[in-house]
Amino acid sequence: MDLKNYIASIENYPKEGIVFRDISPLMADGEAYRAATQAIVEYAKEKEVDMVVGPEARGFIVGCPVAYEMSIGFAPVRKPGKLPRETIEVSYEKEYGMDTLTIHKDAIKPGQRVLITDDLLATGGTIAATIKLVEELGGIVVGCAFLIELTDLHGRDNIKDYDIKVLMEY
Ligand code: PRP
Ligand code: ADE
Repeated sequence: MDLKNYIASIENYPKEGIVFRDISPLMADGEAYRAATQAIVEYAKEKEVDMVVGPEARGFIVGCPVAYEMSIGFAPVRKPGKLPRETIEVSYEKEYGMDTLTIHKDAIKPGQRVLITDDLLATGGTIAATIKLVEELGGIVVGCAFLIELTDLHGRDNIKDYDIKVLMEY
């Protein structure tokens, strides 16, 4: 199955010059969503993952079905003010200005083998910040899985020391 048939490309969204890669047609098709999930599950099994972590919002869409299929846990990484218990946070540079991501302090047990999931790797800022959070809690990031990599943005240069699984490149 060619998963690219299920990605919509929208020019000049959300602003001039950006081609937005929309995964919602893939999610809307049960077989395509399952095929993408299964490919990441196979990768996660190879890496002997025992916890999945994903940044909001689209990291949940990719990571939760993987965790469910493997009968392991999923921990959400969220923007500030969204998680109700004690958190740690990390700030990172975005295209314009700074942003912050948070995770519950008890989301990861030290030594857990963690897979980080997101829909798309662009500049790599989000994934690098998520890796920092997991490692601060003592987790071992054994892999990062994405549906899509935007290769022109060289996001993987930000996460050179980590193993990456990508299902589609643009
Ligand atoms: C998008 C996407 C990734 C991130 C990739 O999320 O889902 O998380 O950007 O960009 P980067 O590699 O340059 O960090 P966004 O921040 O738009 O949030 P959303 O998933 O809540 O829409
Ligand atoms: N996040 C960052 N860049 C993106 C793009 N081009 N399409 C969809 N999500 C994105």
